[in-house]
Amino acid sequence: MARVLVIGGAGYIGSHVVKALLQSGHRVCVFDNLSTGQKINLFDMADFEEGDILDYTRLSEVMSQGFDAVVHLAAKKAVGESMENPNKYSLNNIQGSLNILMTMADNNVKNIVFSSSAAVYGMPEYLPVDEKHPVKPINYYGFTKLEIEKFMDWYDTLKGIKYVALRYFNAVGYDADGDIKGKEKNPQNLLPIIMETATGVRAEMSVFGSDYDTRDGTCIRDYIHVSDLATAHVLAIEKLIAGMPSAVLNLGTGEGTSVKEMIEAAERVIGTKINVKYADRRPGDPAVLIASSDKARELLGWEPKYTNIDDIIQTTWNLER
Ligand code: UFG
Repeated sequence: MARVLVIGGAGYIGSHVVKALLQSGHRVCVFDNLSTGQKINLFDMADFEEGDILDYTRLSEVMSQGFDAVVHLAAKKAVGESMENPNKYSLNNIQGSLNILMTMADNNVKNIVFSSSAAVYGMPEYLPVDEKHPVKPINYYGFTKLEIEKFMDWYDTLKGIKYVALRYFNAVGYDADGDIKGKEKNPQNLLPIIMETATGVRAEMSVFGSDYDTRDGTCIRDYIHVSDLATAHVLAIEKLIAGMPSAVLNLGTGEGTSVKEMIEAAERVIGTKINVKYADRRPGDPAVLIASSDKARELLGWEPKYTNIDDIIQTTWNLER
């Protein structure tokens, strides 16, 4: 049993990580400022400390309780916004993460699992993308994630803080038991937008580009179920505590699904037509992005359980019923 501080544990991915940790018998404390995280996502079995990673004193106070590991998921994650308002990302993502590393060093907390992103790679030069792929982010959000990975590497060298950076591909789905109910507000990603269109929150949705060099002309992504992501965090913590050296790991299924295929699958699951219009390409979108997660499979013994896109979409649709 490990004592784990989950920073950002009231958020979409964080709440799934908390559930997976509790189910594996670990003790959890959530630290969250509830800016995008929601109280409804908290679990009774986990402690909750409200606070902001930019509040160094408050963060130090919580960190001084003593933890075996930290999971850090507290970040801004809107790619478009990061280009328009880089200061927000410098502050929350870079400064906030440095505060976490500094308070860990001060309080002798030795392990961290960090939510990184496929955005660190930029435009893929080959597929599937493995961890040896060059890292050349094309947006400021991706740059912040890459820089934090580098800071963690220095804190490993200088302070002996071991880390696992998990580079998520496209996170989708919800807890299959329905234990996590907080829907993201103002969603920017494909599947929540499909849901909003199906339920009439939006009159229609746009497919960004239908002339890509792919099997149906729309972009292909590697959609990974959030509960599979969560399992990888638990394994990473357990391996770090058992002495595994620091590592950077992709998390995806290795399977690609096109935007059109996602919409068709949602129509099958929901049983209604989704009102779609075909629009121009969105700047910065690669045609295809697929992960090689062989390293995570090897080092963590991790295996995604959800492989069928209809099943994944069903877990999201369950929230609407
Ligand atoms: N898409 C549409 N219509 C929409 C929204 C999205 O057609 O209304 C398309 C996009 O063009 C893209 C695909 O659906 O082809 C997936 O788009 P998302 O915005 O859901 O996800 P991205 O692949 O753009 O971004 C994800 C994460 C980012 C991360 C990035 C890494 O959300 O945090 O992968 O490249 F940075």
